[in-house]
Amino acid sequence: MSHRLGARGLVLGYDESSPVVDGLDLDVPDGQVTVIVGPNACGKSTTLRALGRLLRPSGGAVLLDGQELARIPTRRVAQAIGLLPQSPAAPEGITVADLVARGRQPHQRWWRQWSDADERAVREAMELTDVASLAARPVDALSGGQRQRVWIAMALAQETDLLLLDEPTTFLDIAHQVDVLNLVRRLERTVVTVLHDLNQAARYGDFLVAMKDGRIVARGRPDEVVTAGLVREVFGLDAVVVPDPVTGSPLVVPGPPAPRPAERAPGRGGPGGRGEPTGPAGPAEPTGPAGPAEDVGAAGAADAPGTANPPAAKGVTPT
Ligand SMILES: Nc1ncnc2c1ncn2[C@@H]1O[C@H](COP(=O)(O)OP(=O)(O)OP(=O)(O)O)[C@@H](O)[C@H]1O
Ligand SMILES: [Mg+2]
Repeated sequence: MSHRLGARGLVLGYDESSPVVDGLDLDVPDGQVTVIVGPNACGKSTTLRALGRLLRPSGGAVLLDGQELARIPTRRVAQAIGLLPQSPAAPEGITVADLVARGRQPHQRWWRQWSDADERAVREAMELTDVASLAARPVDALSGGQRQRVWIAMALAQETDLLLLDEPTTFLDIAHQVDVLNLVRRLERTVVTVLHDLNQAARYGDFLVAMKDGRIVARGRPDEVVTAGLVREVFGLDAVVVPDPVTGSPLVVPGPPAPRPAERAPGRGGPGGRGEPTGPAGPAEPTGPAGPAEDVGAAGAADAPGTANPPAAKGVTPT
């Protein structure tokens, strides 16, 4: 059976101080990949944890098939929703195979212990995430990327209709990132995932949710959501948005890197001496199509000519 997940007027926080998430409404599209993007500390993980019932709302409700999540028995929730938290902690000394097998717990009963279905689910999850060869290794002894793939395997082994993934590509090399994101797309499940990479969000997501300061500021298809204006509004970053040459989805290209100290002292004959008195503005000159060029121009215009800080210098560092 396919389960529907949503939130109404969700208020979330950790103490009496002002809420982290305030009045969030969301209908998670069935059978699609929803990607939540937004700056650090804007409430993405908090929202995901509430959707997975790891955090009880202080106001509003998470709804599973129209029923308040808080009122549904834990086992039923665990059979419907799998959650990979941002920083999961494994029991000390546990092996990969045993950790992945824990994903099957919601399906077990005292009269029905380990079954062929459990065995198959664990094996498939380990193969899909490329960790089968690590089965006997202690999780503590793995690299960050190997460990992350084991956690994804555990979430997959749970075989839930709804899968919530908080930054599943953290620690993964680019090939494994692409593997995991393609895997997520191939699953015939409803997925909600947090991603920091806007380009991956736009490429692999069907539906994007952009958050800022505990609120949703934009939602929709990637081409509707990922614009230079949105990137500036949500991240405070000046960037050009061009079509991804492979998929056509929006590709965010931040402004040029900050100049090296030698480049900042025009006329002093530093190493590489470009001899361009205009300094950092030089490489920013747009040569591409009209759209992005306008974006760059607008970004440059935001700072007064001759300012010491080129627009690209702020917020370029990804987390
Ligand atoms: N367990 C906690 N106790 C108290 N405050 C918390 C806790 N977890 C998160 N917060 C606070 O809630 C706010 C939102 O945190 P959250 O983890 O949801 O951000 P995020 O959008 O996932 O950020 P990131 O991109 O860094 O993962 C932050 O100000 C954070 O300090
Ligand atoms: Mg987070």
